[in-house]
Amino acid sequence: MPNFSSIAAPLHVLAAVLWVGGMFFAYVILRNSLGGLEGPQRLRLWNEVFSRFFPWVWAAVILLPATGYGQVFLDFGSFSDAGLHVHIMHGLGLLMIVLFFYLFFAPYQKFQKAVAAEDWAAAAGHLNQIRLIVGTNLALGLITVALGASGRFWV
Ligand code: HEM
Repeated sequence: MPNFSSIAAPLHVLAAVLWVGGMFFAYVILRNSLGGLEGPQRLRLWNEVFSRFFPWVWAAVILLPATGYGQVFLDFGSFSDAGLHVHIMHGLGLLMIVLFFYLFFAPYQKFQKAVAAEDWAAAAGHLNQIRLIVGTNLALGLITVALGASGRFWV
């Protein structure tokens, strides 16, 4: 019978690719391509982008721990049977998830309200906070993916 990891591992990697790849596109490509847009247009565009991207991030922040813990407890046995890379990935993964929760429930809610009220100065301030958190999570995500994919070859 196929083990849990044969289903969980592809879902785990797909969730990581969608989340980290989406942040890379937003932070590195889109952010640097909007120079020609006026403030309100730019802020409205980010509002549209976030409303389409964040549901995918919610799927990723549910799937990553579910499939990760599943592999650890159902196939490996326990965390003491898992490699160092899994322990580091676990810590970094939880940090990324907490940062996303904060981003979603604090600056993003305020950003949405400020855009709806056309308070562009406030919206720009909240967007700046979102940018800092996404930049941090992108760096953590790239490190986590590199660790997760290479860890089994360390020993
Ligand atoms: C929430 C806690 C997490 C746990 C408990 C966890 C657990 C695991 C486990 C058990 C594996 C298999 C390791 C192996 O077979 O050697 C794995 C692989 C992997 N994880 Fe995680 N993970 C978590 C979060 C994350 C996050 C946030 C990312 C990326 C954003 C990520 C990316 C990866 C990648 C890229 C692999 C390698 C897949 C492969 O090469 O087959 N993980 N993870």
